[in-house]
Amino acid sequence: MKPKSLVNIGDYSRDDIIRIIETASKFKQQPNRPLLKGKVCATLFFEPSTRTRLSFETAINRLQGRIVGFSDTATSSATKGESLKDTIMMVSNYADIIIMRHHLEGSARYASEVSPVPIINAGDGANQHPTQTMLDIFSIYETQQTLQDLTITIVGDLKYGRAVHSLIEGLSHFNPTFNFVAPQEMKIPEKHKIYCDKRGIKYHEFTDFSPNSINSADILYMTRVQRERFTDLMEYEKVKNIYTLRNDMLSDSKPNLKVLHPLPRVKEIDQDVDSNPKAYYFQQAGNGVYMRQAVMCDLLNIEVE
Ligand code: CP
Repeated sequence: MKPKSLVNIGDYSRDDIIRIIETASKFKQQPNRPLLKGKVCATLFFEPSTRTRLSFETAINRLQGRIVGFSDTATSSATKGESLKDTIMMVSNYADIIIMRHHLEGSARYASEVSPVPIINAGDGANQHPTQTMLDIFSIYETQQTLQDLTITIVGDLKYGRAVHSLIEGLSHFNPTFNFVAPQEMKIPEKHKIYCDKRGIKYHEFTDFSPNSINSADILYMTRVQRERFTDLMEYEKVKNIYTLRNDMLSDSKPNLKVLHPLPRVKEIDQDVDSNPKAYYFQQAGNGVYMRQAVMCDLLNIEVE
């Protein structure tokens, strides 16, 4: 039997998500536990990362696991032409679980099909970023005390943003209403609208970042324009600074509003927002440690008291 993996957030049920949030809450109370003692965890980052890799590695260190891996493909034998399959087969000889980020969409699914150990998708191209979604949902629950019936305004690069694509699927169990704010060049791909339509999820599309899209929201989810996904940099130049959230734009927002961002940010949130109590993106990134501890223990069938 294949081991459990986390490739696509859509593979997790409502109950799975709630169970793992509950475990992450336990880790937030007490992150230092010897639960990965004797385990080796591999972090294979074929694409750059700050938060995802370092929060996974912090999570593992706090659970007393060991880490092998690379943060730069240039230091791996992929540069000599080794295939992804061979890399995964090799690393699975060494590690109990593999955390992988790769530029190719579907690479994590493929890895999970050939791997004898669990695979965690730490981002595959513009496709999915399921552990980001898990920590986003944890942060939403933490700040709203519910996941049900919320209005989520998602702003920016909805075409290439893998965190956005995962978030739509992850929240689909909780009757959300989405406001999708993006320029024509980066609007939400048709397949995600079809996904919403099939599940009766309400959504509205806007090209302007209007006061109404901010003031009606419980969560304002800002995103960066994904420069690395553009094949034509002229196209990137046209849209790179299309929307910027400034502090004064939050003055009529709902009292419970929180501003989230998967980070890194470039210019889409002005620094003057950082001191507003509605800004929650740094705490959100901090939650990545607890949520990733919970995800790893869940996949390795480790009970958390
Ligand atoms: N949110 C996120 O994936 O950040 P990194 O690219 O720094 O890992």
